Amino acid sequence: AAGDSFATRLLAWFDRSGRHDLPWQHPRTPYRVWLSEIMLQQTQVRTAAPYFERFVAALPDLPSLAAADLEQVLALWSGLGYYARARNLRAAARRCVELHDGELPRDIDALVALPGIGRSTAAAILSQAWGDRHAILDGNVKRVLARYHGIAGWPGTPAVERELWKLAGQHLPDARMPDYTQAQMDLGATLCTRADPACVLCPLQADCVARIEGRTAQLPTPRPG
Ligand code: ADE
Ligand code: SF4
Repeated sequence: AAGDSFATRLLAWFDRSGRHDLPWQHPRTPYRVWLSEIMLQQTQVRTAAPYFERFVAALPDLPSLAAADLEQVLALWSGLGYYARARNLRAAARRCVELHDGELPRDIDALVALPGIGRSTAAAILSQAWGDRHAILDGNVKRVLARYHGIAGWPGTPAVERELWKLAGQHLPDARMPDYTQAQMDLGATLCTRADPACVLCPLQADCVARIEGRTAQLPTPRPG
């Protein structure tokens, strides 16, 4: 909601310390946002960036990806690993040409129906490409929310995951969704890290349950077993 201190503080921090020069932010088209989110599912920003530049130089838009040979797409992906991502990208592009006039659909269920796009990735695409109000919940965001709210229980548990989705939805700002989505990723990747969170630098420290109660090493709860 407007004035949610989580969102307000996170956005103010993002203006000072977030990442504003990522290649998929300039220009921030739906195709480029989609491609970046698929690369970033299993690959760090630093590694993904040069692959992203090569990929969009060769295949600059969704129709060119749909028309490309699978071999070319796999060659552009070569070195990134998890090659199902590249196959799914091309398959999704072809589906968009068949069903959506050659564009990514601006609809969360239509996006989730495409190969390789889960709920959080769909939300990350819609919020960054169009500014639509959707919560994301990837591994970084789960860690931040579990700590901030002091939510115990492995986040892979359905009840815990449901609770984290609910909290993520409650923090959404009324504006600046592209920045807000990027800010959450940046906070999780740079400050609220798994092993050694930099709470003294964190814009959320005043209200963070894990920091206040000294439980950052215990939250989020690890996978059982
Ligand atoms: N991981 C997934 N999406 C990301 C993004 N936009 N920036 C940084 N890391 C990410
Ligand atoms: Fe993470 Fe620390 Fe910030 Fe809490 S105060 S959100 S544990 S970095």
